[in-house]
Amino acid sequence: MDIDHQQALTWLTTGGTPRFEPPLFQPRYTPMQAQDWQLQLVPLIIVRGYWSDTSVATDMAVLTRTRPDGGHDSWMSMSPMELESQEIGCLEARGHTVVMGLGLGWAAAAAAMNPAVTAVTVVEMDRAVLDLHQRLCLFEQLPAAARDKLRVVEGDALDWTPDQPVDFLMPDIWLPLYSGPGRVEEVRRMQANTGAPLIYFWGQELVLAALARDRLGVPVEALDADTLRRAAALTGLPLAGLDRPDYADKLRIAALRRLPPAQTA
Ligand SMILES: C[S@@+](CC[C@H](N)C(=O)[O-])C[C@H]1O[C@@H](n2cnc3c(N)ncnc32)[C@H](O)[C@@H]1O
Repeated sequence: MDIDHQQALTWLTTGGTPRFEPPLFQPRYTPMQAQDWQLQLVPLIIVRGYWSDTSVATDMAVLTRTRPDGGHDSWMSMSPMELESQEIGCLEARGHTVVMGLGLGWAAAAAAMNPAVTAVTVVEMDRAVLDLHQRLCLFEQLPAAARDKLRVVEGDALDWTPDQPVDFLMPDIWLPLYSGPGRVEEVRRMQANTGAPLIYFWGQELVLAALARDRLGVPVEALDADTLRRAAALTGLPLAGLDRPDYADKLRIAALRRLPPAQTA
């Protein structure tokens, strides 16, 4: 079957739902396994994004890890939610950018494609993930100018200290998108170790929305740029993205879709 027939079949079987076009960098992944980690391709999936409407993704890469009880955790995928929730960080990245957590390597590669970025250091603690990437050769798909910016080091994101000044920090070491405002403490620790003057951490939109709702009394529906700046000040972190004109609109959608209800005591 040639590609036109495949596209037509996808369109028919998904009721005309638009295709998801990955932003910034569209890698090719090969299924493989490294110890308890599996990289697989999901043939077809219809999902909503972090803020985008429902779309169709085909041959979507998913990185899962087998738990001791035999179940599987999904650590990263090329889904609209995962990519949109890291896109702003890749667009705001600059200078020497440190990416905490390699995963599928997408955020690191997309950051390296940003002309404002001069170098990308990826810190990954799991040897099996490092081994998987040795065989995957993902960064070899990048143009030489982006590829040459990248280096991967083994280390614990919570303890790692840099050997050269850091301009931008992108932590993404967590399994769930949202695990409460406690994540801020871990990011503060990474900032103290790296001295990063600007940070975009995974799930920061939900943390900001939770702080605005629970500490400032502003419901998600009413979030605006000014409230988000006040919520960001509560974290004590120099967060990137807040000056983007569409940030509040996108954040509201993401929080309405994915922020758990407030805990009642
Ligand atoms: C969610 S994935 C990262 C996805 C990545 N942003 C991407 O674009 O593919 C999280 C990664 O962080 C790693 N990790 C978890 N805890 C870590 C830590 N304390 N230090 C370094 N890496 C860690 C995991 O092994 C995994 O590879």
